[in-house]
Amino acid sequence: MRLIFVGPPASGKGTQAKVICAKWHLPQVSTGEMLRSAKANGKLSAELVTQMAQGGLVPDEVVIGLIDARLDDDDCKPGFLLDGFPRTAPQATALDALLERRGLSLDAVVALEIDRELLIERAVLRRTDKATGQIYHLKYKPPPPGADLEHRPDDREDVVKNRIDTYERMTAELLPYYEKRGILKRVDGVGAVDEVTGRVFSALGVSRFQDE
Ligand code: AP5
Repeated sequence: MRLIFVGPPASGKGTQAKVICAKWHLPQVSTGEMLRSAKANGKLSAELVTQMAQGGLVPDEVVIGLIDARLDDDDCKPGFLLDGFPRTAPQATALDALLERRGLSLDAVVALEIDRELLIERAVLRRTDKATGQIYHLKYKPPPPGADLEHRPDDREDVVKNRIDTYERMTAELLPYYEKRGILKRVDGVGAVDEVTGRVFSALGVSRFQDE
């Protein structure tokens, strides 16, 4: 299974991706996570750190290079879930070329849809466990007491608004691109995590109890 998850910031891509990947034993390939890990290891230039902190996108060639290398890893051979990539038309075209070169194709593109106000609430109250990477929400999924939590610098309200604007300007145009190819699955992202997971499974045409 080769999937893409697309959706505005804090729409729940990472949360849903973790459930789907655990069920189907797929690697979750998140360009956001790869960039944050490069930053933590001091491997991201100061310019890119600033761009991310302000809610902008990093240049296409950077993320395309990351994905090109990642797809060659053994764990990606049986399939993968791309979380947050592609995000621009040039990234989508580049992905097509990367897949074609490997004789692969996409099965589906899941687009999570959710209102702006809820996105802001989800992002601003999001916290990530530094040790495990587990995503929490101070209102909807409170972390356990004593957890060592991180508040992402790009989850400040003003930056989140920039990120949503960037999504609407740069990424929403991908939806018709995949819709024309008949592989776009639009999913309502509002509701409890489990409810949304159920919708994702039914959009993919499988029962959530079915094994791959
Ligand atoms: P990235 O990390 O990809 O950020 P994003 O797309 O903005 O997505 P998020 O991680 O913010 O949210 P999510 O949709 O995964 O939501 P989550 O599940 O955490 O990218 C970060 C930055 O890196 C970009 O801004 C850009 O600079 C750069 N970048 C990355 N990819 C790039 C690319 N391809 N090209 C160029 N630049 C790139 O959920 C959010 C919160 O809501 C959590 O607290 C969660 O617990 C809660 N929640 C989730 N679902 C529910 C629910 N159903 N009900 C209640 N709460 C819920």
